Amino acid sequence: MPPATARKLAIDGGRPVFDSPVAFMKPGLKPQDVEAAHDVLKSGMLRASKKCEELEERFAKASGAKHGLTCANGTCALQLAYGVLFEPGDEILVPAWTYIATVSMVVAAGLKPIWVDALEDTMQIDVADAARKVTSKTRGIAATHLYGMPVDIGAVQKLAKANNLKVVYDCAQSHLATYKGDGLGEFGDACTYSFYATKNLGTGEGGMVTVNDDTLKRDIELMRSHGETEKYLHERIGFNYRMNDITGAIGCSRLDRLLEETCARREAADQYDTMIEDFEGGIKGISAPGRTEGADAAWHLYTAKMDLDQFTCDRDTFVKALNAEGVPTAIHYPRSLTHQPAFKDYVTDHPPVAAGLASKVFCLPMHHELDGPTVAKIGEAIAKVAATYRR
Ligand SMILES: Cc1ncc(COP(=O)(O)O)c(C=O)c1O
Repeated sequence: MPPATARKLAIDGGRPVFDSPVAFMKPGLKPQDVEAAHDVLKSGMLRASKKCEELEERFAKASGAKHGLTCANGTCALQLAYGVLFEPGDEILVPAWTYIATVSMVVAAGLKPIWVDALEDTMQIDVADAARKVTSKTRGIAATHLYGMPVDIGAVQKLAKANNLKVVYDCAQSHLATYKGDGLGEFGDACTYSFYATKNLGTGEGGMVTVNDDTLKRDIELMRSHGETEKYLHERIGFNYRMNDITGAIGCSRLDRLLEETCARREAADQYDTMIEDFEGGIKGISAPGRTEGADAAWHLYTAKMDLDQFTCDRDTFVKALNAEGVPTAIHYPRSLTHQPAFKDYVTDHPPVAAGLASKVFCLPMHHELDGPTVAKIGEAIAKVAATYRR
């Protein structure tokens, strides 16, 4: 850990901590991924076939679920899950602090979102707030394991059981995370995944729904492919939300090393936590993301927070200075969902914790190739910027 004395910031003409910026993420393919895609191209079997089936089977197993259903992307995965579980007009408890798709697909399905606040510490859905908002019309809860940190699944399942709610977990950011030693696919009625290019398992575009119920699996299969029960016999209205085998092959190839890469992310997260919170008194005014008890996160993102009262600058100025030191950052997210114009007709109040997080959070570099010395230097850069702007 660096001395906490202020040194001239790079943004003010000082020497940056890194001579060239470190990588924020490492989404690139390896030669074996390219080869796997190439094999499919050479075979000419481009539609969803053996490679999608293999990905469904292996990914479902790896995440503790009985069935996996590949689809075009994580947004389609949410549409499929909501579409088979709920009826238009149902009230669904939704997080005010998450990526838009978790809730925009609730609205797209004709459901009514009931906004639930976040916990300040873990930034995950506040289940006690959800419990306060249950009405006689509430039929479900959608919870995102945000940044890869599982929500308090025990509390969600208890609330669901007590009120007969169906549960959809948005696992787009939490591939291979676990809760009390179990894969996330063991919990809830459906789990949805995104394989967008920058996700922990990235295929470009892609997604999956996992379920444990055979009837739900069938319903999703039908909705995914025009309700077709035999060639050109359409029993229901459906969509074309299918994946393709090139994507499936890349997914299978990347899945071979996903656990190893997830473990590397966990090591980097542990080191960040120690630097920010514990080592030599930590970095005052900055806090590490809180952890849900019993959860082992996937660390899609490592999201730190500023205590704005302790600094003379706002978050955006702070991260600009950090960027100049060679530490790229991202803001997930710059506004809570109730402040998104798209939801203006669905908002009655602004859950306060979620609203506050929008001006405090910043994500630090996180990927499987982040090594100890680099994380330590990132800590040095944060401490340098913090020392300059601390009150
Ligand atoms: C939490 C969450 N849900 C859903 C999605 C949507 O996934 P996709 O971009 O694959 O449609 C994302 C993607 O960013 C996400 O982060």
